[in-house]
Amino acid sequence: MSEQVTPTVGREWHLVARPAGWPTPENFALVEAPVRQPGPGEILVRNEYLSVDPYMRGRMNDVKSYVPPFQLGAAMDGGAVGYVIASEAEGIAVGDAVLHGLGWREYATLPAERAVKVDPALAPLSYYLGVLGMPGLTAYAGLLEVASFKEGDSVFVSGAAGAVGSLVGQIAKLKGASRVIGSAGSAEKVAKLVDGYGFDAAFNYKDGPVREQLAEAAPDGIDVYFDNVGGDHLEAAISALNPYGRATLCGAIAQYNDTTPPAGPRNLAMAIGKRLRLQGMLVNDHAALQSQFVAEMAGWLRDGKLSYDETVVKGVENTAEAFIGLLRGDNTGKMVVQLTS
Ligand SMILES: NC(=O)c1ccc[n+]([C@@H]2O[C@H](COP(=O)([O-])OP(=O)(O)OC[C@H]3O[C@@H](n4cnc5c(N)ncnc54)[C@H](OP(=O)(O)O)[C@@H]3O)[C@@H](O)[C@H]2O)c1
Repeated sequence: MSEQVTPTVGREWHLVARPAGWPTPENFALVEAPVRQPGPGEILVRNEYLSVDPYMRGRMNDVKSYVPPFQLGAAMDGGAVGYVIASEAEGIAVGDAVLHGLGWREYATLPAERAVKVDPALAPLSYYLGVLGMPGLTAYAGLLEVASFKEGDSVFVSGAAGAVGSLVGQIAKLKGASRVIGSAGSAEKVAKLVDGYGFDAAFNYKDGPVREQLAEAAPDGIDVYFDNVGGDHLEAAISALNPYGRATLCGAIAQYNDTTPPAGPRNLAMAIGKRLRLQGMLVNDHAALQSQFVAEMAGWLRDGKLSYDETVVKGVENTAEAFIGLLRGDNTGKMVVQLTS
């Protein structure tokens, strides 16, 4: 047990109004709050990096879902990594680096059992929010387990320049996909997919109908679709999937800010004749893959076989803007907020 001089006040983000449609900066407030000193079994962490993730948009609505909604006027939370600055817990010491769930704030006091020690010598701390963390496991499990990927499959992934999508495409290539196709929202991102991540083909979904662009990029159809987007992407993929094709329904970001339910996919009945399997996923169901995932992913990173990008926004005061920017597509790879320089 050890202690050093610790701050008494820190800044934390509150949701002050629920967004109707697109979130705006006025929905959020950065407020000062007392930093609680750790009690028995607890640690105090100085956060170094905060994660902003698309699922947080759902938590801003007052609806029942697989994660509870953010409460108005209370501190928001989410993934974060940082260093322990005070500890009253066995097994975690001042100076240890930890991953935990009390992000959207500078300092976090929490029970030690809700933090996981991570090794900053093995990989940069922020990687535990991305390639070696939740988005990485989502990509790994969603492709290999949920979509039952097998060597020779032709794979299409949407949101392909983002945290999850960029890894899905690269894992598919590393595991022997016959063809990997990605879609993203700018010419720069499309170039990155082919030149940086080794995709065989890529297109900008803003350039024309997804169905037409996908048909051109995948003349022989696709066997696996990894859906981060929903809407017209899912509809196009249903048309392009070969018999017995599989789709992992991972996210539907195209509709997260919609105020009315989407109309499609209008061609769902095609799933019958083609005997398609469309399966939703939640990353938390796949914890059993964690050690295999970390070993394989860290190995690919070490051997230079996997490219990983981050978009780093600096300063806790820019967290809400970073989150809104994520929904707009400002990021390539994982969007993180760096709190200290
Ligand atoms: N089921 C699970 O357990 C699980 C876990 C993690 C993530 N997810 C989901 O996986 C998806 C990707 O998450 P991530 O963390 O990797 O985020 P991300 O892809 O790094 O960032 C979101 C990206 O979505 C794209 N986007 C925004 N609006 C769009 C639209 N209307 N149509 C197409 N693309 C749009 C933007 O890129 P462009 O510039 O290309 O538009 C943006 O960069 C999200 O849907 C998320 O909810 C699910």
